[in-house]
Amino acid sequence: MGIIKLHDKYFQTYISEDKIAAATKKMVKQITKDCKKEVPIFIGVLNGSFMFVSDFVKRYKYNCEVQFVKLASYNGTNSTGKIKQLVGLNQDLTGRTVVILEDIIDTGNTLEEIYEIFKDHKVKQLKVATLFFKPDVYKKDLPIDYVGISIPDKFIVGYGLDYDGLGRNLPNVYQITPKPTVKNILLFGPPGVGKGTQADILKEKYNLVHISTGDVFRRHMKKNTKLGKLAKSYIDKGNLVPDDVTIKMLKSEFKKVPHTNGVIFDGFPRTTAQAIALDQFLEENNETIGGMITIEVPTKLLISRLLERGKTSGRVEDQDENKILVRFNEYFTKTEELKEYYQKQNKYFGIDGVGEISKITKRLSDVFEKL
Ligand code: IMP
Ligand code: MG
Repeated sequence: MGIIKLHDKYFQTYISEDKIAAATKKMVKQITKDCKKEVPIFIGVLNGSFMFVSDFVKRYKYNCEVQFVKLASYNGTNSTGKIKQLVGLNQDLTGRTVVILEDIIDTGNTLEEIYEIFKDHKVKQLKVATLFFKPDVYKKDLPIDYVGISIPDKFIVGYGLDYDGLGRNLPNVYQITPKPTVKNILLFGPPGVGKGTQADILKEKYNLVHISTGDVFRRHMKKNTKLGKLAKSYIDKGNLVPDDVTIKMLKSEFKKVPHTNGVIFDGFPRTTAQAIALDQFLEENNETIGGMITIEVPTKLLISRLLERGKTSGRVEDQDENKILVRFNEYFTKTEELKEYYQKQNKYFGIDGVGEISKITKRLSDVFEKL
């Protein structure tokens, strides 16, 4: 979901798992119709096609054989230089119906090599199926019998396809996108970890805007707005405000503040649902999350810090150890999944939050500067 970063490039959500599944289903139907009277050999071209082949053959209900091949280049001794060779094909294909399963056909150079190699085998018929096809770049006259989804000439990753080795494991397909204009930062960690203190320092240093969900709620509660009253009913019990209320408030706050250099979010998102909503919202504005940084501090130390803060701040939720524990529990059970969410996008960073404030700022700055 949203914009992800692989190596130096950014990619945005493009084709969902569901759409891929629907396209695969359609291809299975066509190929079944043409091949079910015999036992076809499906040949997947590695590496990119592994996921497509797996999903394809799972849906194919008649007898079939499955093979994988890989195109490897070796330097020939003649002057033409690189010659391609198929690795992994150790079967007699004489008289058989062969269906090549490709993840993507772009210029068609690879396909041409494949046709070239297969012409030496006395197959009954050779058919080609590709999940993705770029008609605008395809330069050959070679037939492509089955196409799942035609796409414009833009680089994609996911569902087996990679960018320099990364992205193959993603279940959805992403399309390359320009570097987002603004990078926002999520400051993370259980209550009392020093997020507010650090955010105040860092926003000055990097000219960022700090949006703290807690602060926004407290402002609303102080003004006794409708949202404030609603939020108070949850917060006073030590509970979290429901996602939809929080998201609505965050969006309006985000639009209100000038944030040309980015925003430090603190206290938000707290659930994967919120993270997805935030990613979608940012993507609409060609912005993204640069990183999620967690300040890590041992729980025992945090509880004493919070009780101390409760004595002077007037925050009801910090005056009772049980209410603190409710929030901790909430944090560790629900929001730890966020770590996984951002790790998948290569955007997760953890830093040691024990020590002098300036030392922690330094650790955070080091991360900020490499985002
Ligand atoms: P072709 O030989 O130009 O048709 O390109 C086929 C190969 O290029 C594929 O097997 C992929 O490895 C790679 N390729 C082409 N377009 C893309 C893309 O958009 N994303 C990832 N790989 C691609
Ligand atoms: Mg390929």
